[in-house]
Parts: sequence; C-alpha cells; structure tokens
Amino acid sequence: MGSSMTHPRVTKAIFPVGGLGTRFLPATKAIPKEMLPVLDKPLIQYAVEEALASGIEEIIFVTGKGKTAIEDHFDRAFELETLLARSNPKALAALKKLQLPPGSVAYVRQQEPLGLGHAIWCARHLVRDEPFAVLLADDFILSERPPLAQLLEQHAQFGGHWATVMSVPPSDTSRYGILDIASQDGAIIKVKGLVEKPLPEKAPSTTAIVGRYILSPTIFPHLEAKISSTPTGEIQITDAIAASFATDPFYGLVFEGDRFDCGTLPGMFEATVAAARLRADLAGSLFTQDGMSVRNSFTR
Ligand code: G1P
Repeated sequence: MGSSMTHPRVTKAIFPVGGLGTRFLPATKAIPKEMLPVLDKPLIQYAVEEALASGIEEIIFVTGKGKTAIEDHFDRAFELETLLARSNPKALAALKKLQLPPGSVAYVRQQEPLGLGHAIWCARHLVRDEPFAVLLADDFILSERPPLAQLLEQHAQFGGHWATVMSVPPSDTSRYGILDIASQDGAIIKVKGLVEKPLPEKAPSTTAIVGRYILSPTIFPHLEAKISSTPTGEIQITDAIAASFATDPFYGLVFEGDRFDCGTLPGMFEATVAAARLRADLAGSLFTQDGMSVRNSFTR
C-alpha cells in the first residue's frame, strides 16, 4: 500500500448532472433525471446530503441544457418559505435543510455530452490543485455510513485515486468500469488495470466501479490528453485513471451499503421500495411481514 502519512482533506465534490435521462422519458422530458425522486426527495439531494455529511464544503455541479431545476432546487424559495412559515413549519424545516451556505455551490456547463471524463474536466478551474470527490447521483446507496465518508477515510490515510466498487454478475460487466485486480487486503483492492464496459468474455474481473470517486488533481493532464487525442466521442474517466497508474496508485473500496442503479427503471423501483422500508411513516402501512401489502383492485 501507499504511505500512511495524512493526505490533504477533500473539501470539493463534483456532481456530473449533464446526462439526458432518455431511459426515463417521458418523465424526463422537461425535468432533469437527477430531479426524479426516491420517495419525496430528488436523487441529487441524496447525493448532496451524502457529500455534506462526509465533510464536503464546496459543491460543483457540471450541468447541461435543461438542468436549471437543479439550480432552483438548491436556491432559496422565499415565497414558499413565507407561506410555509404560516401553514407548515415541518415542511419549512425540511426545506431549510437544503440551504447551502452562500458561495458554496458552483455550476459549470458541459456544452456537449462527451462523457463522464469530459464532465469532470469541465470543472478543472474550480477544483484546481486539490484532491476532489465525484458523486454520480444515479448510484443510489443506502448505508449506515455515507459511502463517500468510507472512501475519504481511506484516502486520508493512503492518498492516490479511489473509487467505491462492488461485485456484479458476469453478464453485467458491459455496464460498468471493471477492475483488473493486483491484490486485495480486506475491503481494499489495489488495481493494476481498468476496462470501461467490457463484454463478459473480455472482462478482467467482475468487480465494478460504483459512482463515488476520490481523485487526485493529477488526473486533469490525463483527461486533457484524452480530449486532444479524441476530438469526437466520449471521454471516460476510467481511461484517464488507467493512464495515470504510473504515478498515482488506484484503489477500489468494497463499501458497506446497498446500491441501486437509479439510472434504470427497475433500479429506481427497488430503491423506492427499499427506502420506504426504512421510513417509519411508510413501513407500517405499506408492508406486511411477507411482503408488500399494496392494494391493487385494478388488474388486466
Ligand atoms: C459510469 C462510469 C463507469 C462506472 C459507472 C457507475 O458509467 O463510466 O465506469 O462503473 O458510471 O455507475 P455510466 O453509468 O455513466 O455509463
């Protein structure tokens, strides 16, 4: 493993939110996919709350066309606040939790959807020379400790690049960045190679990257190189991380928690059910010991 000195504290997090969300049409025709809710909270809010709970102080959204609802969501809403102050103090308190300190949120626009690597590169002038976190709101994780906090703890000790990882069925490797594993020590995996979305027969393992990363700023020149050598087509963060192996070690952390792929409809549904089970106000009325007790008198 790398050195055990303490590495700089990570205070900035990038949230790439430029994707189109075509899988959820028509729901995402006029609202960003990151604003789709699991129960009563948008996906992006879960991710931002996770970052804040993990000690992140600066939020950087990499947005695209049609994403202004995200800006409004994290802004004050004076009319609504005034109304709720009179009629619904509980709802007002929930709304106030969303107020981030002035100046702690920045938006940078990715003009073209050129992939996750390109989105991260678009935030380079805001990140500058500090290690930073990346959170993909589509990867919805229920856990006792925020997965980002689990990663940050390891990063503080060992430095380098980090990502949360999990085991996936062999048939699913073509949906993820897949690790070529050098060695494993408990939950920590030292990585020697990475392949973005390989077919099962080409996959070096079935251990996949899930959307939480801590990256060193040394990644930016590698992204820059990929961007200048690939004028069209997607720029993968996975390729840039792999290109930096000579100077930056990369570790995967098998995190504690349940992850749901909220970039797909089944994942979104599962996440909603799992989150409802954890909510005292819903669990009692929706679930029996044997399963769901949702009434359904409409059958085909
Ligand atoms: C991205 C990354 C991939 C990673 C995945 C996690 O893919 O490119 O390496 O495994 O997120 O969700 P996307 O799902 O954006 O296609």
